[in-house]
Amino acid sequence: MQDLLDSALARIHAAATTEDLEAVRVEVLGRKGVLTQLSKDMGKLAPEERASRGKFINTAKQAIETAYEGRRSEFERAALAQRLDAEWVDLTVPAPGVRPGSLHPITQIQWEIEDLFRSMGFSVLDGPEVETEFHNFDALNIPPDHPARDMQDTFWLEGGYLLRTHTSSVQVRGMEKLGPPLRMIAPGRVFRNESVDASHEHTFYQLEGMMIDRNVSVGNLIYFMKTLLTAIFKRDVTVRLRPGFFPFVEPGFELDIRCLICGGAGCPVCKQSGWVELLPCGLVNPHVLRLSGIDPAEWNGFAFGLGLTRLVMMRYAIDDIRWLQSGDLRFLRQF
Ligand code: DAH
Repeated sequence: MQDLLDSALARIHAAATTEDLEAVRVEVLGRKGVLTQLSKDMGKLAPEERASRGKFINTAKQAIETAYEGRRSEFERAALAQRLDAEWVDLTVPAPGVRPGSLHPITQIQWEIEDLFRSMGFSVLDGPEVETEFHNFDALNIPPDHPARDMQDTFWLEGGYLLRTHTSSVQVRGMEKLGPPLRMIAPGRVFRNESVDASHEHTFYQLEGMMIDRNVSVGNLIYFMKTLLTAIFKRDVTVRLRPGFFPFVEPGFELDIRCLICGGAGCPVCKQSGWVELLPCGLVNPHVLRLSGIDPAEWNGFAFGLGLTRLVMMRYAIDDIRWLQSGDLRFLRQF
């Protein structure tokens, strides 16, 4: 009987898994286990044998239970240790470096130009992207059936609203709100219903400028445009002035710059022409002044519409406009 106890204890200590351990427990202590059987058989014993058999069974049961519990908690500790090992975190490892963001190149150039014009007494105005037909077209001398409306493929919205096709709409708001004399610029996002390619986006950025005063001349216009271009490119750029038609200016001009990407040889950005239209401008059409309640007999002015997106492309030799709104970090991290 001592053998029975010894072998049970030995098997408990040797159990390699909880399953092995459980098997021993069932075999020895279980309802049909050996010890249970021994207790049941006690009735068949002679009374004098019963006491010592009972004592043995109790001692054996206790010893086996203690050994079983001991072995089981060993298994539990091992399992816990294993889990903790897997979850271990080294709190002393240095954190990965913080990567600072940067301003989008369009924002950078916009802020530079804002600073420049502020230093020359211009206000920086903002206007809505969802505009009325009046501010985007009519007040700029582009009546409903005017062919110039076709030059700007428009996203029309319900209720006669539209997505502004140019920042010139902010000229009108500036004249309405501030009146003459006026020096303002208005940077902002504009929208055209165009198919997208290397040089066209449906969404891009312009910067509108307007100065209204007494005796403003083409000379003033050229002075401000030269100051602007010198500040932006910080080097000599070749420019040319062509007559250009815009209903809101008279005379109107196209100020082109020699393509800085191909140097004039021809590339997709300049549409193989060697020149990039950058700065349409002109003297404000008297009718436009009148439509905003300004007397053209007393006041006149110039206006220009700078393509901010194009400007950024020229400055950094970006050959595809689609990069600018791609959100691609490989692109953005360069600025
Ligand atoms: N609003 C014109 C456009 O998008 C650009 C423009 C031309 C603005 C001549 C002006 C200007 O202020 O005088 O296409």
